[in-house]
Amino acid sequence: MFSHTSVLIDEVESVLSTISEPQYIIDATLGLAWHTAMMLTHVGESGRVLWFDRDADNLRDARVNLEEKWLSKKFIPIHASFDTMEDVLREQWIKEVDFILYDLGVSSAHYDDWVRGFSVRFDGPLDMRFDRMTWQTAEDLVMTLSERELIQIFMRYADEKKSLFIARAIVDVRKTQKIDTTFKLLEIIEKSSFDKKSWIRVFQALRIAVNDEFGHIERSIAQAMRCLKVGGKIAVITFHSLEDRLVKNIFSEYTQDVIDDFTGQTRIPAAFRKYTKKPIEPTALEVDNNPRSRSAKMRVLEKIHSIQN
Ligand SMILES: C[S@@+](CC[C@H](N)C(=O)[O-])C[C@H]1O[C@@H](n2cnc3c(N)ncnc32)[C@H](O)[C@@H]1O
Repeated sequence: MFSHTSVLIDEVESVLSTISEPQYIIDATLGLAWHTAMMLTHVGESGRVLWFDRDADNLRDARVNLEEKWLSKKFIPIHASFDTMEDVLREQWIKEVDFILYDLGVSSAHYDDWVRGFSVRFDGPLDMRFDRMTWQTAEDLVMTLSERELIQIFMRYADEKKSLFIARAIVDVRKTQKIDTTFKLLEIIEKSSFDKKSWIRVFQALRIAVNDEFGHIERSIAQAMRCLKVGGKIAVITFHSLEDRLVKNIFSEYTQDVIDDFTGQTRIPAAFRKYTKKPIEPTALEVDNNPRSRSAKMRVLEKIHSIQN
């Protein structure tokens, strides 16, 4: 068993319980399969949970946490980004699904593995790829992007106020040496920003850039909205404010009626409604047991009409 437990699992289950006899569920971010283990108990005999993960190791390791649920065979594993969702459903002859969960970001397996380069806790290669079959690593970005491009990444993906100093220091250091490990990068950040919180922010920004995380989220949620059955629900768990803002903005496009400028009447009714007014957050007890859940927010929409153009 892996030590980590999933975030907001009871809350996800209570949303899922509002859907009677779900046939198809998508776990867009399998990770270590904690959410999936719960979701497998909700699909009927002929139902399936489709798993997506960009990381082949997580798809392999999910088996450990699933224990005997693995034998049920009620799942379809897909080693691909969740932005291939519509193609995958077409290949599987699945027309619509009942529930889709995204639990965004990094799994604890990523953070705990020094080789992956996600954590500031270990010295390791400056990698940060979710999918190690892709070619671009964090080292590639740090060694090749211009000062201006580095600043943009640190600002856009982490709101890092010391972006200018950090980017300048990176460009300076790389003239004489390779920045190819996490600790080499940390040293540069420390000396140029004098703020330990910049470590986490710069790592977050590089990770988002390496994996084009926001691009994948935007493309995938647009597909998820089309794939959902009327009456189905989509839930997205985010872990930082920029990610949450992105999801909030995407969701608001789907929850507003299109109004006719001329008559002021509703021309196209919103296809979705909010399941709760405010995002769902972990209880104090969950935060105590799992401090990583501290910044989690879950937004849920219910599909009430099919999407009209
Ligand atoms: C926070 S973890 C999910 C944890 C999981 N819910 C559990 O219960 O263990 C996020 C996972 O999403 C995966 N991931 C990130 N971006 C992805 C994408 N675009 N497509 C598919 N999986 C992705 C990561 O590899 C990681 O394993």
